[in-house]
Amino acid sequence: SDPDLVARAAAAKAKLGDRLFILGHHYQRDDVIRFADVTGDSFKLAQQAAARPEAEYIVFCGVHFMAESADILTSKTQQVILPDLAAGCSMADMATAEQVERCWERLEDLGIAERVVPVSYMNSSADIKAFTGRHGGTICTSSNAERALEWAFAKGSQVLFLPDQHLGRNTAVRDMGLSLDDCVVYNPHRPDGGLTDDQLRDAKMILWRGHCSVHGRFTPECVDEVRERVPGVNVLVHPECRHEVVEKADYVGSTERIITLLNEAEPGSAWAIGTELNLVKRLATEHPDKQIVFLDKSVCYCSTMNRIDLPHLVWTLEALAEGRVPNVIEVDADTAHYARVALEQMLALP
Ligand code: 13P
Ligand code: SF4
Repeated sequence: SDPDLVARAAAAKAKLGDRLFILGHHYQRDDVIRFADVTGDSFKLAQQAAARPEAEYIVFCGVHFMAESADILTSKTQQVILPDLAAGCSMADMATAEQVERCWERLEDLGIAERVVPVSYMNSSADIKAFTGRHGGTICTSSNAERALEWAFAKGSQVLFLPDQHLGRNTAVRDMGLSLDDCVVYNPHRPDGGLTDDQLRDAKMILWRGHCSVHGRFTPECVDEVRERVPGVNVLVHPECRHEVVEKADYVGSTERIITLLNEAEPGSAWAIGTELNLVKRLATEHPDKQIVFLDKSVCYCSTMNRIDLPHLVWTLEALAEGRVPNVIEVDADTAHYARVALEQMLALP
């Protein structure tokens, strides 16, 4: 890191004191995460944002949908700031409000909408969260998807899972004991979703055709290759990975769970991790007594998470210290109301 930028970020942060609270997702760069007051997975960060009513400014070092969720869960007087507005998420962009409304209309026309419960991954826009709240559903993250599905199946007989097909399928099959045949994939780019009426009526899980381009790079061959290369290795992957990868892995978990598992691991044990590279590199540095390797041979950062870099953080903190508030993320009141219903349902899951 540039020592001058580090000093400037530290000085601006110190000047703002308790008025400022910085949240950092585990995929953030090392030189950004060092300034976070709290680090976490998507679930923990949403909880933490809601638990800081005294902070005037919440600087979110993460991506756009996380900052939107923080805005929805915090009070009107607090401002949520994203240091680079271009830090989006390609998965969240794979489900637009218009596409999801069209899908829902199809379910209504078929007469099955009242038995379908929408479950939307945190990695979605505020519009999709509001859709979910309006139709009696819940948000989930990778750390509570099983509880969200249990709740949804106690309420209805079918689930519309948005937008990550892999988290939906992995949770349904691995954790809930459903079969692959219980799942169908709705393609928003086809007028009929690429599904017949019977397929939509019979499926227990209607999965949206979305995915994470970072986790999509891990293949079953990566698992075979690392097992050959590192004898006795434990393979630990994020549930955004494809089902064939998750099936071959030894452990599956959210970013926070990955960190916990590594903290609990025996010295001398070997781990191949299938998630974003900033986190895997940090784990390798923090655990010199364990062998930690990246599951893929090629480099695999999340390019939008990486947009939040030290120059953007310095620019943001210095503006705040001078009384200017840049890059405010503000969800409109009507959308925020219904999105909050769905987010609070998640926070209330048992
Ligand atoms: P978690 O931190 O909740 O595991 O999510 C990973 C992710 O992809 C965030 O964008
Ligand atoms: Fe989106 Fe994947 Fe990046 Fe997470 S890792 S922010 S799901 S593109």
